Amino acid sequence: MTLADQKAAVAEASESFIDNELGATVTEAAQAVLEDSTERGGGIRMQHVDKIYPGAASKALDDFNLDIKPGEMVVLLGGSGCGKSTALRALAGLEDIQAGRILVGGQDVTATPVNKRNMAMVSQAYSLFPHMTALQNVEFGLEVRGMKKAERRRIAMEKLELVGLTDQAGKYTQQMSGGQQQRVALARALAISPRVLLLDEPLSALDAKVRVQLRDEIRRIQLETGTTTVFVTHDQEEALAVADRIGVMNHGRIEQIAAPQDLYQRPATEYVATFIGLTNRLPGGSNGSEAVVFGQRVPLLEGSKQGPLVAVLVRPEALTLTPAETNTSNVGEHARVETIHFLGALVRVDTVISSGEWQRWNGGEQLRVTVQLPASELPAGLAIGSDVVVAPRAVPALAV
Ligand SMILES: Nc1ncnc2c1ncn2[C@@H]1O[C@H](COP(=O)(O)OP(=O)(O)O)[C@@H](O)[C@H]1O
Ligand SMILES: [Mg+2]
Repeated sequence: MTLADQKAAVAEASESFIDNELGATVTEAAQAVLEDSTERGGGIRMQHVDKIYPGAASKALDDFNLDIKPGEMVVLLGGSGCGKSTALRALAGLEDIQAGRILVGGQDVTATPVNKRNMAMVSQAYSLFPHMTALQNVEFGLEVRGMKKAERRRIAMEKLELVGLTDQAGKYTQQMSGGQQQRVALARALAISPRVLLLDEPLSALDAKVRVQLRDEIRRIQLETGTTTVFVTHDQEEALAVADRIGVMNHGRIEQIAAPQDLYQRPATEYVATFIGLTNRLPGGSNGSEAVVFGQRVPLLEGSKQGPLVAVLVRPEALTLTPAETNTSNVGEHARVETIHFLGALVRVDTVISSGEWQRWNGGEQLRVTVQLPASELPAGLAIGSDVVVAPRAVPALAV
């Protein structure tokens, strides 16, 4: 049912209120619309899902839990082999599961076969029919479903327009660039109005520029269509750019799931902290709700480890850097500038802590500290080899 159909249905039935129920103000049609949209924009619930591949020593999904709101875009982020594709394939019904259950729109689909789950998947491989035109590829799924030619052509053209390929409709997909082929694949997936759109590293085979362009467009289209979407990637920048929420996966389960900014500012584990953005591991003594790092008090995040000597995970922008000759503060550690990276509006400065004490703490390795600051705040005359003092700011951090 399209939005226009829904409106028409409500308008048509608005005279015939159900009057046999106490104070009933809901029409049958309105109720149908409500049910239809809840079901169509299906929320997802994966509960205690285990997946064990035949002969495998460990579980590919290990008590995997995931809740997604209707219309939400959740990104599953994690390194190779952590179970991202398996989670997606289990949700789609392409893999049987050994434990747990899967609900879509409140309905248990655990035993529902793949072709009845009403989901569409786009993966890294283009998987289009090369001997068909873009239009024929997009129409294909609708043809299989028995839709009449005029109707399926209308829908296919609508989806090609959505992905910006109206003028390429008659082209054979084998003559198209990788980026264009993925647009066709996306249009084909959306043509069947899936309840859930599954994207498994759809941009991995594309070059950097096209990748950024298309990821922004996927997000625009997803917001426009309101399709509940699960997007799998190993690229944190991609995840941060498109997600409502990111689930960071490790060993077959989600270690933390939160909005991008929350995940960055309040990582629950070291794995999450190091997977999203850069982080320094600095020595500190923690006690209760704060730690002392290089003489500076740093508030600690929930779940922080306590002890006289722990590692505190400090983001590069949560550090200050002062040339040693102008330093007047009594906190901080002396360090030598190793490299300076200009990143446009920002500058990243890699330093090596001078004191051998922290080298011992760091397992014999020199303790490196990366500081990031606005280019406008870079001390004049700072150069490779400069003696500086680095100190954390009082920004909440995790101790591990
Ligand atoms: N068809 C398969 N048969 C056996 N083991 C598999 C199969 N597919 C994936 N695995 C294993 O399951 C784990 C998770 O794989 P996968 O979900 O593909 O990870 P990701 O997509 O995060 O890279 C890995 O250890 C992988 O080797
Ligand atoms: Mg994968």
